[in-house]
Amino acid sequence: HGTSRVNARGHLEIGGCDTTELVRTYGTPLYVYDEALIREKCRAYVKAFEASGFRFQVAYASKAFMCMAMCQLVMEENMSLDVVSGGELYTALKAGFPAERIHFHGNNKTEEELSMALDAGIGCFVVDNFFELELLHDLAQKKDRVVPVMLRLTPGIEAHTHEYISTGQDDSKFGFGVASGQALQAVKRALDKPFYKLLGIHSHIGSQIFETTGFIGAIEVLSAFLEQVRDETKYEVEVLNLGGGFGIRYTEEDDPLPVGEYIKVITEGVRRQFTARAYPLPEIWIEPGRSIVGDAGTTLYTVGSIKDIPGIRKYVAIDGGMSDNIRPALYQAKYEAMLANRAGEEAEETVSIAGKCCESGDMLIWDYALPKANPGDILAVSCTGAYGYSMANNYNRIRRPAVIFVKDGEAEVVVERETYQDLVKNDRVVPRVLSRTI
Ligand code: LLP
Repeated sequence: HGTSRVNARGHLEIGGCDTTELVRTYGTPLYVYDEALIREKCRAYVKAFEASGFRFQVAYASKAFMCMAMCQLVMEENMSLDVVSGGELYTALKAGFPAERIHFHGNNKTEEELSMALDAGIGCFVVDNFFELELLHDLAQKKDRVVPVMLRLTPGIEAHTHEYISTGQDDSKFGFGVASGQALQAVKRALDKPFYKLLGIHSHIGSQIFETTGFIGAIEVLSAFLEQVRDETKYEVEVLNLGGGFGIRYTEEDDPLPVGEYIKVITEGVRRQFTARAYPLPEIWIEPGRSIVGDAGTTLYTVGSIKDIPGIRKYVAIDGGMSDNIRPALYQAKYEAMLANRAGEEAEETVSIAGKCCESGDMLIWDYALPKANPGDILAVSCTGAYGYSMANNYNRIRRPAVIFVKDGEAEVVVERETYQDLVKNDRVVPRVLSRTI
């Protein structure tokens, strides 16, 4: 997919770059992003909305993969950006991302984070709960600034995805429940607050969703809710934000729709539901993360130790693992892989790909057919572009890999590989005298 192909030397090539050469230059593990494919995804969303006739904003959910270069790319594609922490906000502002196109999410934004976002003049705060509803308003009042807000609601929809990434159900840490009546209460309170400009409502039902029924269900619940709000308060929203969650194909088991299809279903659903209620058509915002960057990312590893337990299993270990991709351990996520330096060869044996962390659960792929791997081979795991680098960690004091963008035969480092010095940068050595008395 994308610009990936097997070249004449039998090597995996991405963005016109031979992956074996990338490895020689940048080392492993290495996250390689196909820049053209990311841009293609961005444009597919924008195009689908343009065709719908709706006013819209496509906000890239930066939690999926965030660094300054990614912010620059999103900026160039004229999209908006969804951030969920002071760190993501800081990165965006540092990259020169226009504040008015930044939306701030999160179920426990701190006073410091809210102040930072207020001072930057971001485009929208997605208020998650009653505590924040008061806190943000107090801050806005102190700064004498009217701020654009949106309320995050939980519409009571099951999204049919992994339990850890389902967020639309009533029993959730996120948002104001529609069924419980808290959503209505929140809208009324927000409307009463002079330093709020209520743009509309938001819902995000979950992640890695294939079926459109969840989105349609959410639109139904939300439009009925908005009708009730109008009856009671006369208020009509300008914006309806339907979150992200559009699924991608990690393996053959996954069957997502093309990006444009989801948008078609959503825009038609909104048109139908709102028209039936004689409600003015809102501007539609969405927040895709995974579907923008997921399949554009490939992780390259070097094969090291190989352990064969005859009749039981063969473990092929690579020089990364749950430190750069925690998804298999956390969600039993499945991936596909290939030997990048022998990409043309047929599979000969079934092996399991083990990470190098001190943890039995650190397995990237179980029972997978590959050519007979040898130490020094390069293993490419595909579709690691979302929630790989962004969830990477320093467990076992493993250094986080470098990230590169490739396009038209050129590679650009967008995140340097961590160094050993980076790992001890914030450590402080205890004075000897003190350590003796402990
Ligand atoms: N908007 C909101 C409010 C969200 O909570 C999320 C994801 C998104 C947008 C973007 O969803 P996406 O389009 O990427 O599915 N770490 C998990 C995924 C967690 C998603 C959290 N929220 C994973 O690796 O599968």
